[in-house]
Amino acid sequence: MKKNKFVVVGAGSSYTPAIVAVLLSRKDDLKLSEVVLYDIDAARVARTGQFCELYAREHAQDVPVSYTTDIETAFRGADFLFVQIRPGCNQQREKDEKIPLSHGILGQETCGLGGFSFALRCIPAILDIVGKAQEICPNAWILNYSNPEAMISEAIYRTYPNAKALCICDMPISQEETIADFLGIPHKDLTFKYFGLNHFGWFTNIYDKDGNDLLPALRERVLSETVSLVNAEAEEKHDNYWGEMYQHVIEGFQAYPEFLPLVYISYYYFHNEIVSHMDPNYTRANYVLDVREKVVFDDCERCIAAGTTKDSSLHTGVHGNYIVDIANAIINNTHERFIINTMNHGAIGNFNHDAVVEVPCYVSAGGIEPVSVGYIPQFHKSLMEAQKGYEKLAVEAALTGSYQKALQAVLLNRTVPSYAVGKAVLDELMEANKDYWPELK
Ligand code: G6P
Ligand code: MN
Repeated sequence: MKKNKFVVVGAGSSYTPAIVAVLLSRKDDLKLSEVVLYDIDAARVARTGQFCELYAREHAQDVPVSYTTDIETAFRGADFLFVQIRPGCNQQREKDEKIPLSHGILGQETCGLGGFSFALRCIPAILDIVGKAQEICPNAWILNYSNPEAMISEAIYRTYPNAKALCICDMPISQEETIADFLGIPHKDLTFKYFGLNHFGWFTNIYDKDGNDLLPALRERVLSETVSLVNAEAEEKHDNYWGEMYQHVIEGFQAYPEFLPLVYISYYYFHNEIVSHMDPNYTRANYVLDVREKVVFDDCERCIAAGTTKDSSLHTGVHGNYIVDIANAIINNTHERFIINTMNHGAIGNFNHDAVVEVPCYVSAGGIEPVSVGYIPQFHKSLMEAQKGYEKLAVEAALTGSYQKALQAVLLNRTVPSYAVGKAVLDELMEANKDYWPELK
């Protein structure tokens, strides 16, 4: 029987213990032979790595788990690479968020110029990884969920059109689950239709098992009564980031009721309102560093010192499950449906065929089959075209080192009101990323 070696790339991340726990819990379905945690940061990967080794010893003794900073060792014989890198870690994310905010525009990990900054750090690193994979383990599936996925996917598919790479994001499924909970129907009994770009899309239909579209009734409710969507993962006490973001989904649906917006669309529909409520001195990166990373890393260190993971508070989230579900669909040829970033190639009939879009796809051992979305309305198409122009120029800037392309990309981003603001933010980000970005000239 063919067995599968899984490699987590960027394994020093706080998401890793949960992903490894899900992999091990599904080791039989996945025909799991081995898990290797790889990272360029020795200290970070030693921490999650030792934790996961201990965890495996206590939960799945037949699956060797190891960690390394050597890419050869990691990739040799690999069948699946889960890629989740963040060059510069959340320390650089903090700068991506704070610099634009200090100029009064959105400071966010993937949307607005924070996303541009992250893309310029991540694209060279990710292309290096995919390139090495083509040499060392050309048959491995590369499941990328490194951000900003919109631009990472453009860069990967453009540079390595034949790589077995799938670019995915957990936001659509996470929002589907939130909607399913709201409707009181199990997620597995619903089929969502969706189109867009990564962190920039809309749900068009929600079919139940009998083929009824539940979206029109949901629209009526949202337009006529007070509705609130509660995200199961909202971390109420420390901050209510996702709770507030889901409230904007309702407002966005009320404002433009044709389709139900993905949560990230709110940053564009309600840019000024959201920015005015953001704390420029304490952003999402600060929360992630102070709370999520601290909790996970403290727990890892405590368990390593105790020599056991028995009382670990580690839990599995949708993030870990989703990526493993996709690998499972490939391994077991299940033809399940997932929303994936893929070359359009006609899936959206009236949108650039040579651009990455985010659409439902059926996943099997042979790869993906995108669902045909048909023609989309003028409003959504035009929003997407500007956003895609921004994305393509940002990738172009990263690949060619052209400052002019970067400046063009910046002005196309909807969060940028003018040349002067855009240029000021770009120049400050460039300075803050001297050690990470390709040189722009
Ligand atoms: C969602 C998105 C990811 C993003 C994450 C941010 O899951 O799909 O692309 O990275 O949210 O979460 P954080 O808690 O780090 O702000
Ligand atoms: Mn995402």
